[in-house]
Amino acid sequence: MNWLSKFLTSSIGRKLIMSLTGLFLIIFLIVHLLGNLQLLANDNGESFNSYAYFMTTNPIIKFASIGLYAFIILHALLGFAIWAKNKAAKGSSYAVRSNAKVTWASKNMALLGTLILAFILIHMGDFWFKMKFTDQLAMVTVSGMDHPVKDLYSQVAHTFASPLMVGAYVLGMIVLAFHLWHGFQSAFQTLGINHKKYTPIIVAAGKVYSVVIPLLYAIIPLYYFFVLK
Ligand code: HEM
Repeated sequence: MNWLSKFLTSSIGRKLIMSLTGLFLIIFLIVHLLGNLQLLANDNGESFNSYAYFMTTNPIIKFASIGLYAFIILHALLGFAIWAKNKAAKGSSYAVRSNAKVTWASKNMALLGTLILAFILIHMGDFWFKMKFTDQLAMVTVSGMDHPVKDLYSQVAHTFASPLMVGAYVLGMIVLAFHLWHGFQSAFQTLGINHKKYTPIIVAAGKVYSVVIPLLYAIIPLYYFFVLK
């Protein structure tokens, strides 16, 4: 355990864990988006509700989810620790390195991260908590299943009928885009991937990712509010 606490309190150890957990969360965002895009299917929530049932009952997914929660917490705690250390030293933020381009996002990673954490807490309270720990959701039948499942689709539709929630989601996605704009390439840089040919590709892929993924997420509440309403 001593080596672990030493590793987690060392500057390089913290940065390494930040980049690895960050890359995991980048992959999670793609998987989560692919599942959520079923909300756009014109089938009264059938495919989304059976998907949500699968995601909350499959033992492998349940196990992976524990890792996901742990990584979110670790990423947030270590980010905060790095920010606090740099602030105490009155140095630059962890994200700003001599060989990294200083952008508004790179200087405000801790603020952006805190806002994303707030978004995740509100978001999970609304969907994940109600799905997993309450009986608030109605039960519906879906084709191909011999028992009713929780109607998470209607909960999503209910949330996205509120202009306040739609605004919060769109704002959340803008914040996420800024965080990823710096975070994506920073993760690779921390891992020491610095290559004449590949680094420009990683930087470009990071920019495309950080715009396209939050944009696709934001389309969902906007579609519910303006088109399905
Ligand atoms: C329009 C955008 C989004 C929609 C409609 C959406 C929808 C959902 C729903 C319905 C759940 C509950 C599913 C379940 O209990 O299995 C959920 C869980 C979750 N969402 Fe989202 N989500 C969105 C964006 C995001 C974003 C941008 C993040 C991260 C920054 C995020 C992080 C999470 C996490 C961590 C969980 C818990 C996952 C788990 O238990 O495995 N979501 N989301």
